[in-house]
Amino acid sequence: MNMEKRTISFSPPDISDLEIDEVCEVLRSGWITTGPRTKLLERRLAAYIETGKTDIDCSTPEAISQYSHRVVCLNSATAAEELNLRILGIKEKDEVIVPAYTYTATASAAIHCGATVKFVDIRKDGDPVTHMPEMDYEKMEAAITEKTKAIIPVDLGGIVCDYERIFEIVERKRDLFTPIESDGTPLGDLSSRIQHAIGRVAVVCDAAHALGASRMFHGDKKYVGAIADFTSFSFHAVKNFTTAEGGASTWLPIPGVENGEIYKMFQLLSLHGQNKDALAKTKISEWEYDIIGPWYKCNMTDIMAAIGLRQLDRYLGLLNRRAEIIKQYDNVCDELGIRHLIHHIDGMESSNHLYLIRLPGIDIKQRNEIIEKMAERGVSTNVHYKPIPLMTAYGADCSDYPNAYDYYRNLITLPLHTLLSDEDVDYVCESLRIATCLIEL
Ligand SMILES: Cc1ncc(COP(=O)(O)O)c(C=O)c1O
Repeated sequence: MNMEKRTISFSPPDISDLEIDEVCEVLRSGWITTGPRTKLLERRLAAYIETGKTDIDCSTPEAISQYSHRVVCLNSATAAEELNLRILGIKEKDEVIVPAYTYTATASAAIHCGATVKFVDIRKDGDPVTHMPEMDYEKMEAAITEKTKAIIPVDLGGIVCDYERIFEIVERKRDLFTPIESDGTPLGDLSSRIQHAIGRVAVVCDAAHALGASRMFHGDKKYVGAIADFTSFSFHAVKNFTTAEGGASTWLPIPGVENGEIYKMFQLLSLHGQNKDALAKTKISEWEYDIIGPWYKCNMTDIMAAIGLRQLDRYLGLLNRRAEIIKQYDNVCDELGIRHLIHHIDGMESSNHLYLIRLPGIDIKQRNEIIEKMAERGVSTNVHYKPIPLMTAYGADCSDYPNAYDYYRNLITLPLHTLLSDEDVDYVCESLRIATCLIEL
């Protein structure tokens, strides 16, 4: 097969006329910032996370009471993760455990809260079944101290971590955990009640890649968002589900703490600590507001939510198309002896976000040559990720995380998105064959 040269982008957004029309409608509506569309998207995401269904009518009074105040839409996953940690009361002198193999946002959100990040290496070659570079759970357990307040597992590429194992570990370490006491402020009081109710290190999932992924959890199929104590999602332009920029937080019910109270604190934290949002202030004689904390500005706008609402209508179809592409890649990689992520195993369905491959026996220089050769043929690839400890801001030293380094050394991420035709995928595969033959292994 010798195919004509094509241009294959790495991860362009899949935006249809549905999203474009909805954005036009919101622009004409007279309300463009946080408002009814954002609230509707929050309820629809809550319904999706609970049921796996995207077509539940979330404007009925029953659905409004069932699905409100369970998801908060924000302007990024980084903001969502930071607010998750702020609501949990994470602060100076606390420790937060983060995998060495992830994107900087997983760690930087904890640093913004003043916490100390403790990186944990991955297992050699990642999980033995899915090959996903998740934390080495034995090392994770050993890293827990009296100061540890949260662990941030990352469902990288859309593959769901082993949360049964993670919860078993944090439960076993309950004795080391001391909840904070209230400092008398509304946020400090809420955080203290949440820490007392959870009573152990919190599991705060970074699900930037994993909307729609699921895993069996103590005998039940659970969608990501309904497994960890708190979860953050990303709707950035390169993600499966996009609002251009954007993200969302969600959490499991916390005994003794109303969801509405947690939701309200997210609203305050994301809108300057102002006790009325812009929509509430437009009501007649409702101008006056208070500022209860000098907080952040990271709310989602209705323009972003308009994109999200129509993406959600299409999302199950988008996930299926991604799964078809993964099958095509799997066949070729298996034939070439290339190790790749396994996105679907018994009891775990990924959200099919990233296709990571690892070429046996090559070093960083050869990996980069293959990336170059693919680029010459018009195929954009990527590397997820250069381990965080290797980054300048984190010390540029990966010697304590040899498995993360080893995983990164021979890794390439192939383009995986819903604008790829079957012929495009064949072309990527042909380019991979050619590029790997050209370099000296
Ligand atoms: C694992 C992970 N966490 C967090 C983020 C941050 O997402 P956002 O850009 O929405 O803040 C990303 C972004 O790519 C990511 O890959």
